[in-house]
Amino acid sequence: MNSYDIAVIHGDGIGPEVCGSAIEVLEAAFGGTSPLIFREWPGGAGHYLETGDGAPEATMQGCERAHAILHGAAGIPGVLKPDGTEAGVDIGLNMRTRLDLYVNIRTVKLLPGVPPRLVGVKPGEIDYRIIRENTEGLYASRGAGAVVRGETAVDMMIMTRKGVERVCRAGFELARKTDGAPADGKRRVTCCDKANVLRSMAFFRSVFDEVAADYPDVEADYSYVDAMTVHLMERPGHYNVIVTENLFGDIISDVGAATVGGMGMSPSAELGNSHGFFQAAHGSAPTIAGQGIANPYGTILSASTMLNWLAERHADGALAEAAARIEMGAAAALRNGVRTRDIGGQASTNEVTQAVISALRRPLRE
Ligand code: IPM
Ligand code: MN
Repeated sequence: MNSYDIAVIHGDGIGPEVCGSAIEVLEAAFGGTSPLIFREWPGGAGHYLETGDGAPEATMQGCERAHAILHGAAGIPGVLKPDGTEAGVDIGLNMRTRLDLYVNIRTVKLLPGVPPRLVGVKPGEIDYRIIRENTEGLYASRGAGAVVRGETAVDMMIMTRKGVERVCRAGFELARKTDGAPADGKRRVTCCDKANVLRSMAFFRSVFDEVAADYPDVEADYSYVDAMTVHLMERPGHYNVIVTENLFGDIISDVGAATVGGMGMSPSAELGNSHGFFQAAHGSAPTIAGQGIANPYGTILSASTMLNWLAERHADGALAEAAARIEMGAAAALRNGVRTRDIGGQASTNEVTQAVISALRRPLRE
């Protein structure tokens, strides 16, 4: 049997609780003979307070060597670097550039058992993926912007042909693997930009069009980002795959999450050609940390995505089966009403974890 090294960074706030939950579920999904070897690495705002370094080189290297990386959540409000930005988030952000994790897939799917937040929208009617470009755009100048004489500040938006091309291609490839948009079954990639105003964005769209020409079987679609926030509320079923710039992807993935139960239900997979970093899209939620009430579904679903990604890379069917078990277990727990407070229930983190585990032990195919 193959074995896989999983680097784990628990991080801050609810990070250790949701990450611990996902690890328990991962172990259980293999029924006692898990091929996963977890190794914990420090990082985040707490570590910055202790050592002055939120993203230690040893952690970066440990993650680089691992087969996959699982992250809880990072950041403590008010723990800032001298430039005024948050210290805790360096770990995840540095990972994106260091490991070239250029595709950030955020699945927005309304699952049965999660109280719908949009009037009249049923499970099955929201099921799309936002692909957030994860290494350039407005985040490219992180740490390299400038404040001039306390009067003027600048951060630059960077778009490269290579960067835009590869993320758009990833979008069309992903669309081909789906069943299309819920509303009409069409495979569709929507370019979300602000091409009406900014040259960098018009460039993004022109490269998108070049890539789209290679995929005549997939519909190319367009939306300006401001309008997109409304469309995601009013016609979410139209969307299948959305490709967008880094900061836009950050923002619209939170909008999307709000329509399917909130940040706690929002998984994320940050992928490069040789590395994968998996975490829920939510933050460290310091106000509820340590109380055992955090919603672990987002991290659990990210963990099953991690297994699917590993399964494909290593042609290992046991991993794909364990991933299917986790998805089935999470879906069953939700259908049975095992919900944390943020999604209208009373369950604790541990109750969700145990419910997912007992459901995933049932036979996969009856
Ligand atoms: C996300 C988060 C991060 C980001 C933060 C924690 C730096 O909001 O992954 O969406 O801005 O990308
Ligand atoms: Mn975000």
